[in-house]
Amino acid sequence: RKRLTITSMKKMKQERNAISVLTAYDYPSAKLAEEAGIDVILVGDSLGNVVLGYETTIPVTIDDIVYHTKAVARGAGHTFIVADMPFMTYGASRETTLRNAARIMQEGGAHALKLEGGTEIAADVEALVKAGIPVMGHIGLTPQSVHQLGGYKVQGKLDREAERLMNDAKALEQAGAFSIVMELVTEPLAAAISEALAIPTIGIGAGRGCDGQVLVYHDLLQYASPYTPKKFVKTYADIGTTIREAIESYVQDVKGAAFPAEEHAFLGHTSAVQPLYG
Ligand code: KIV
Ligand code: NA
Repeated sequence: RKRLTITSMKKMKQERNAISVLTAYDYPSAKLAEEAGIDVILVGDSLGNVVLGYETTIPVTIDDIVYHTKAVARGAGHTFIVADMPFMTYGASRETTLRNAARIMQEGGAHALKLEGGTEIAADVEALVKAGIPVMGHIGLTPQSVHQLGGYKVQGKLDREAERLMNDAKALEQAGAFSIVMELVTEPLAAAISEALAIPTIGIGAGRGCDGQVLVYHDLLQYASPYTPKKFVKTYADIGTTIREAIESYVQDVKGAAFPAEEHAFLGHTSAVQPLYG
């Protein structure tokens, strides 16, 4: 299987071949995503919510992203891997942005990085691209600024909001981004932005007009996701219930002496065993 490139992704857009993206955070999730034929894996800072149990993505660190990206890279050696730059690890000073980016690429093994923001981070995006790092943008509902945005709500409903998002998307493309995630954006606006850009857009809660889709692993599988069910998520399995019931059975078996059974035991030569006493 051949790993996608930023060039092949642009071609997919031209050919109206939708790009499938899924988050993964460790070896098994990455391995299963690759085996299932996912196009791109995102080591999202949503790992703060779904793997580490934080309420927002804000506490996620560079070390967290490096650690999880390493595991994903070991599990999915043939898949294009994008990793999130965490809150405040970019956009403050150019030098720090580049140093943090280098760590995720070199130590983690990501092939590209994703940054939240529009016009205000375009100069940083340009610097990263000049340094040889493919950058994915992320606009609309940007969870790292949840407190600034006043909650997790749909973006682009007002005309001035829509205009700003369109300008942000164009600024990111101009700065050299190879793709842009649009999160919780109205369908008509996301479609218009996708039309206006040559680079592929990846939607989550952004309707049917994007060039690809992304979902969070634990949402898609109902794998103990801390979120209440969301309108824009389609669940494809109930892994959480499967796991809980399996563990309940194990607990019952141990308590009821049903496990281990004879077939799980190593039956040696009892004649060789000396009685402990007498
Ligand atoms: O962190 C994440 O999982 C993301 C996707 C939802 C786009 O940024
Ligand atoms: Na993210």
